Amino acid sequence: HGVARVVIGRAHRRGDLHARILSDPAARADPYPTYDEIRARGPLVPGQLMMQAVSHQAVTDILRSDAFAVGFDPEAMPFLARKLFTRVAADERIVGPIDPPSLLVTNPPDHTRYRRLVSRVFTAKAVEALRGRVEERTAELLDAMAARPDGQPLDLVSEFASLLPVTVIAEILGVPLDMRKQFLTWGSMAAPVLDIGLSYQQYVESETALEQMSDWMYGHFEKLRREPGDDIVSQLVHLDDASGQLDNRELLAIAGLLLAAGFETTVNLLGSGAVLLIENPDQRAALEADPSLWANAVDEILRFESPVQATSRRSIRDTEVCGVPVPTGSFVTAMIGGANRDPEVFPDPHTFDVRRSNAKEHLAFSSGAHYCLGASLARLEGEIGLRRLFERFPDLSLAGKPSLRSTRTLRGFDQIPVHLNSNR
Ligand code: HEM
Repeated sequence: HGVARVVIGRAHRRGDLHARILSDPAARADPYPTYDEIRARGPLVPGQLMMQAVSHQAVTDILRSDAFAVGFDPEAMPFLARKLFTRVAADERIVGPIDPPSLLVTNPPDHTRYRRLVSRVFTAKAVEALRGRVEERTAELLDAMAARPDGQPLDLVSEFASLLPVTVIAEILGVPLDMRKQFLTWGSMAAPVLDIGLSYQQYVESETALEQMSDWMYGHFEKLRREPGDDIVSQLVHLDDASGQLDNRELLAIAGLLLAAGFETTVNLLGSGAVLLIENPDQRAALEADPSLWANAVDEILRFESPVQATSRRSIRDTEVCGVPVPTGSFVTAMIGGANRDPEVFPDPHTFDVRRSNAKEHLAFSSGAHYCLGASLARLEGEIGLRRLFERFPDLSLAGKPSLRSTRTLRGFDQIPVHLNSNR
């Protein structure tokens, strides 16, 4: 895994702009000028690691095209790109969020089947039914924060932004209350697997978390088979179609993905949203004056600081993107974070504006066959979480500089020191 760093560093020195974002901490802290530079070179730019797409049109076309597939094909990958993703072969029983049969790396016909089954239980109605729970949990967390000794700063990520999503996912997975802390640990340890160029230590930690979670989950599925609850996994355990029921490995892939894909992403939405609103009092005032703007504000946060900055695809036949030919077997990075700052679609793209009329056109939840299954849940958590936070603590302010996570694909803060009340 040290190799990945060397490879990225070498590509960076050879002028690869994607590698600059991956390896240079300053470029990662503010990747937007580099995205602009890549976009200025064209819709699809050749690179040392992979082809790079930053324009909104090119990223949309790639994500929606059936000429592109997900998943790694180490044999077919160019040498440098392969080094970015190579992982130690894991124990068969462990299924990581980016190991097959996870939805994220599965193509038709398997993907179509899993997606249909999960969509049968993870419906808009099921998400709406969680609204009351999200409100309750938010209120409990805010109460706990308010009960802290006055005047002392606290970390908004560990006290709020990470607790709300993990509780909601535990609810979906039917995890008992006393296991939630454990899930918080597993969730934060497993999420970096979604990243590229992990350090060896992160890698080992993620594997260990996945291994422990797998063992626990296999027992959990057996329990839900005997005594189903009203959660989504209880329903998945009992679902079947013409190809039969989902087996334990498939169930684990789905449950593990819900945890990995639904946890840190939502933590980042809440954290970046809080910081953006603290730093832009005029935007906060607009929301206070007209709370119906909250839904749009959440989409603007997702556009402006996309929690998932990039995803990748490989071409499975000769095709073209915005007029640029793409031969079979090409690897492409679709830079969501850059597409969401494309001036062709979002006028004045580097301005955060909760009233932006087309904020919803962002690609933060991807597009096409792999469009985020949890999008409506994430929007619900974002809206309730942030709205209640600022209603409860209208004077919320920073008590220090928030620190950005070191992850490359996921973008957000791992610590946000705040004062809840003004000292006036
Ligand atoms: C897929 C973003 C929250 C479950 C995706 C993808 C993105 C994404 C970009 C597609 C990646 C690709 O096309 O390669 C986000 C963001 C979130 C969020 C930004 C929060 C702000 C959630 C939540 C859940 C969830 C809360 C569920 C509890 C999933 C699943 C997939 C997915 C299961 C795989 C879908 C498929 O491959 O067919 N998400 N997500 N996500 N997301 Fe989310």
